[in-house]
Amino acid sequence: MKFQAPKGVKEYLPPASSLFERVRDALIAPARLANYQLMELAIFEETEVFTRGVGESTDVVSKEMYTFTDRGDRSLTLRPEGTAGVMRAVIESGMDRGQLPVKIYYVGPFFRAERPQAGRYRQFYQVGIEAIGSEDPYLDVEVISIATQGFSNLGLKGFTLVINSLGDTESRIAYREALSKYLLSLSLDEATRERARINPLRVLDDKRPEISAALSQAPSILDFLNEPSRRDFEKVQAGLDSLDIQYEINPRLVRGLDYYTKTTFEFVHPQLGAQSGIGGGGRYDGLMESLGGQPLSGIGFGIGLDRVILACEAEGISGFFGNALSCFIIPLGSEFQSEAMFIATELRARGLRVDSAFGDRSLKAGMKAADKSGAQFAFVLGERESVSRSIELKELATGKVQSIKLEELASYLLTARSEDTSGIQGDISRENTRG
Ligand code: HAM
Repeated sequence: MKFQAPKGVKEYLPPASSLFERVRDALIAPARLANYQLMELAIFEETEVFTRGVGESTDVVSKEMYTFTDRGDRSLTLRPEGTAGVMRAVIESGMDRGQLPVKIYYVGPFFRAERPQAGRYRQFYQVGIEAIGSEDPYLDVEVISIATQGFSNLGLKGFTLVINSLGDTESRIAYREALSKYLLSLSLDEATRERARINPLRVLDDKRPEISAALSQAPSILDFLNEPSRRDFEKVQAGLDSLDIQYEINPRLVRGLDYYTKTTFEFVHPQLGAQSGIGGGGRYDGLMESLGGQPLSGIGFGIGLDRVILACEAEGISGFFGNALSCFIIPLGSEFQSEAMFIATELRARGLRVDSAFGDRSLKAGMKAADKSGAQFAFVLGERESVSRSIELKELATGKVQSIKLEELASYLLTARSEDTSGIQGDISRENTRG
């Protein structure tokens, strides 16, 4: 019998997992620097967290949730997104009664029962941030700038940022009414009419060409923003301008979840074809209250790691190079294994990536393993080396051999490595070795 991973589940195995790590760390780093703190949350929640939080009219809730009944007859759902769960945890822990804004980041798997295709999976991964408890539009600017900094850490260039404002409740009520009137004047199929009745904004998200065409004359939300909403949206734009962050305004951008108000945004990478949204987010004024908390506003984003990885591949950006395998040790027989382990442990404590040969293998087999490991250097540890405290260090790419004293080995390897690393990627991988 041969088992396979369930259909649509995206897994990352070595060596591809090195790009996964690199992308994840590059996206998290700017959030940490802006004082966002990690939340490691439940992978499944009471179903109502999502039906109330995300909204019944969304595809995510109505068609894509993995919902099951547990042994205690409770309805639980694998998290399809992160924002509602963060809100539940903030309310439950009382963090909303402390210092505001609460700034959170998270990373992990999410689950949606979608039809799998390139860039769309049933288990996928997000890095997300949420800043809760301040209506200041400069927080919107901070959130967007953290995402762009993450992309720039990776060297990613070919994406665009699209922004919109869905206005506050008053603006949106006025707009919904106008949009609903317009939609019901069109000849739409029954399912779309029903959607227009439940939440007309959802119809703007419909990507079918005939619907897009019918929507070309639809009223624009931007004409319905009241004074405070318009002012906030202008501040967001001015803030992005001052940071030199390029964007386009698209009044049709509504996003697929019901909790959004005011600023919404999406990062699009056109090279990815149909699944081009590499990340998105926005402000959510009523979400916390709808989950039984205080009426606090928040803003955040979710970035799709799988899609950012595809974007990196499309732009020729590859996996880790900051902390590649530095050295491979070949003990000559089992009596030198514990000494090899001692040296490896010391080198690792200095932040170097070090491996060694296991099993009582011949010198030839040990050298072969060293070559296959992709290490920068290798050396043999036997009687002579152990007594003289000096080794013959071989650079595997060139075959160049050099005598090095064991006590000088760590600094030699560190210098040889630092020539190979640059900028933030190196810093991130060094941070990894510490954490
Ligand atoms: P979302 O737009 O539904 O927003 O998802 C965010 C990102 O996750 C998408 O832009 C996409 O890159 C990725 N993604 C979504 N579904 C899939 C899938 N089936 N396969 C692969 N990647 C996928 C949210 O989830 C919100 N919670 C974001 C947010 C945070 N808004 C405010 N705070």
